[in-house]
Amino acid sequence: MASSSRSCFADLVNVGFVFVLLVMFTAGGCHAQLSTNFYSKSCPKVLSTVKSVVQQAVSKERRMGASLLRLHFHDCFVNGCDGSILLDDTSSFTGEKTAAPNNNSVRGYEVIDKIKSKVEQVCPGVVSCADIAAIAARDSTVILGGPNWNVKLGRRDSKTASLSAANSGVIPPPTSTLSNLINRFKAKGLSAKDMVALSGSHTIGQARCTIFRSRIYNENNIDSSFAKTRQASCPRTSGDNNLAPLDVKTPNAFDNNYYKNLLNKKGLLHSDQVLFNGGSTDSLVRSYGSSSSSFKSDFASAMIKMGDISPLTGSSGEIRKNCRKPN
Ligand code: HEM
Ligand SMILES: *[C@@H]1O[C@H](CO)[C@@H](O)[C@H](O)[C@H]1NC(C)=O
Repeated sequence: MASSSRSCFADLVNVGFVFVLLVMFTAGGCHAQLSTNFYSKSCPKVLSTVKSVVQQAVSKERRMGASLLRLHFHDCFVNGCDGSILLDDTSSFTGEKTAAPNNNSVRGYEVIDKIKSKVEQVCPGVVSCADIAAIAARDSTVILGGPNWNVKLGRRDSKTASLSAANSGVIPPPTSTLSNLINRFKAKGLSAKDMVALSGSHTIGQARCTIFRSRIYNENNIDSSFAKTRQASCPRTSGDNNLAPLDVKTPNAFDNNYYKNLLNKKGLLHSDQVLFNGGSTDSLVRSYGSSSSSFKSDFASAMIKMGDISPLTGSSGEIRKNCRKPN
C-alpha cells in the first residue's frame, strides 16, 4: 500500500539505493500493484453497486454483457487499463471512440455512466472508471454463465486518450494472421495461450456483416452450410451493419461452444478460424473444445493478466468524476 501511494521516482530520490534494490526484489520493482481489497475500507459497497447495474442492463439486453466485456479489452490494449476509451473528444485531444476498432462497434458507454453515477452516490471521488470497467467485465461474464474471479483494483484514470494509439494496430484487426494475434498479445505481456483463452469471449456477442463478409464469401476453411446461412443476412454489397452472433450455437451463453465451432470450421471471423487452421494453437482449441472447465479456468487467469496491463497507480492519473471527461 505505502509503495503504491507514491511514485517510483519519489522512491528513488528519497531512499537509499540498497533499499531500492530490496524493494525491487520484494515488491516486484516499480510496477505498482493492484489488489483485490483496494476499496474494502474506502468504498465497501463498490462491488454490489456495480453488479446491480450490470445485472439490470444485461437483463434488459443480453448482448450488453458481451459489449461490456469487450470494452474492458479495448481499454486495456491502448495505453493500459486506464479508462481512456471512455473519454469523449475534447478541444485538446481526439479520443479513442472513433478509432477504427471502436467506431460504431464498441458499446456500453451509457451503462458505465450509470454505474459511475451510482458509485459516486455511495463514495464520491473514490472509484476509478478504469476499475468500474474491469468489474463490469467480470460481472458480465459471470451473469452469462462464465467463470468468476477476484478483480484486482486500484487503477486510476488517464487524463487523456489517444486516437492514433487506438488506430496503431495494438488492437489486432479481424483480418489478422495467427502470428499477428500472437505478437499483439505478446506485446502486452500475454501468451499465445492467454490469447486463445481470451478469444473464447467470442462465445457471446455479435459482429457486423462488414467484419466477416470477406470470410463468408471467399474463404475455404469454412463450413459451407454455415457460410450460406451467414450470407443470407450479409449480402455481398449491402447490409454492412447487419449483425450475426459470434457463436452460432449459444450466442448468449458463456460456454466453450466457440471452440467447438472452430473445430467444425464455423468460426465467424477470419481471426477466429486462424486459431484452428493447422497452426500452433490447434491443440489448445481442441482442449478447450473438449473441456469447458479448463477453458473457464484459463480464461479467468488471462482476464486477471489482461487487467494488469500498465495501470496508472499512486499519484499518476486521477479519479475521474465523470467517465467521459478529465476532471
Ligand atoms: C484475438 C483478437 C481479437 C480480435 C481480432 C477481435 C475482433 C473482434 C471483432 C472484429 C468484433 C466484432 C466487432 C463489430 O462487428 O463491430 C469482436 C466482438 C467481440 N469481441 Fe473481440 N476480438 C479479439 C479478442 C477479444 C478479446 C480478448 C475479448 C475480451 C476479453 C473480446 C471480446 C469480444 C466480444 C465480447 C465481442 C462482442 C461484442 C458485442 O456484441 O458488443 N475479443 N471482436
Ligand atoms: C465514425 O462513424 C460515423 C458514423 O457512421 C462516421 O460518420 C464517421 O466518419 C466515423 N469516424 C471515423 C473516424 O471513421
